[in-house]
Amino acid sequence: MKLHPVILRLLPEDLRLRGLARLQAQSRRAREALALSCEASGVSLGPLEKGDRNAPLPFRGTFWSLSHKPRFVAAVVGPVPIGIDIEEITPRTEGLLDYIASTAEWALADLSWETFFRFWTAKEAVLKTVGVGLAHLTKARIHAILDPDNLIVAYASKLWAVRHFRFQDHIVSLTHDGHEITWNLVLEPHVLDNPVPVPPQPQA
Ligand SMILES: CC(C)(COP(=O)(O)OP(=O)(O)OC[C@H]1O[C@@H](n2cnc3c(N)ncnc32)[C@H](O)[C@@H]1OP(=O)(O)O)[C@@H](O)C(=O)NCCC(=O)NCCS
Repeated sequence: MKLHPVILRLLPEDLRLRGLARLQAQSRRAREALALSCEASGVSLGPLEKGDRNAPLPFRGTFWSLSHKPRFVAAVVGPVPIGIDIEEITPRTEGLLDYIASTAEWALADLSWETFFRFWTAKEAVLKTVGVGLAHLTKARIHAILDPDNLIVAYASKLWAVRHFRFQDHIVSLTHDGHEITWNLVLEPHVLDNPVPVPPQPQA
């Protein structure tokens, strides 16, 4: 099965919200992205349930993952455990560099905020795939960088293939387990934003 991750931007009215209301809007929008990923993948999900540590539970063999940030959200479904993470590439405090990766990992790539978020999102995607949270961040290691869009993370005695997608100062990382990927970046209003009214049916 091909993977169809979907990236949506927040609706203009959601951008005006703050605090919990904004977080709820992001979460709602991420679920719209998930519905689109289902549509593109030809699968359906039942109620979105969570298990230990708030990890998404699969529905009849379909796994799902989502991520929501202040301006964009990303979501994906797949036939195997899967993890997606999106971040805006923006300078952070330098103290975080040691938190995200070791000296040996940093030696694998140029030191930049782009690399920082590449590593961060790749590790988060893997930790989401396994269903554990950020507490395990230091146990996940960048094992190899294959090319600008692909790297390998080592975690829990396994190697995890991660693919990146970049757009508008954002980076998305996705664990793919060898599956083909079609990225769907929806910047224009989608049918979900403007539902088309169903015309009245002719009376018999
Ligand atoms: C998973 C986690 C790394 C994501 O953090 P983040 O980068 O701030 O948030 P993102 O927007 O990228 O992702 C949020 C989504 O990740 C998913 N998620 C949450 N916990 C998850 C987990 N343990 N495994 C996989 N996915 C998880 C959820 O779908 C969540 O969105 P939702 O709450 O709207 O459903 C972080 O929430 C975490 O460390 N969670 C574990 C905390 C924990 O152990 N809690 C135990 C008590 S419930």
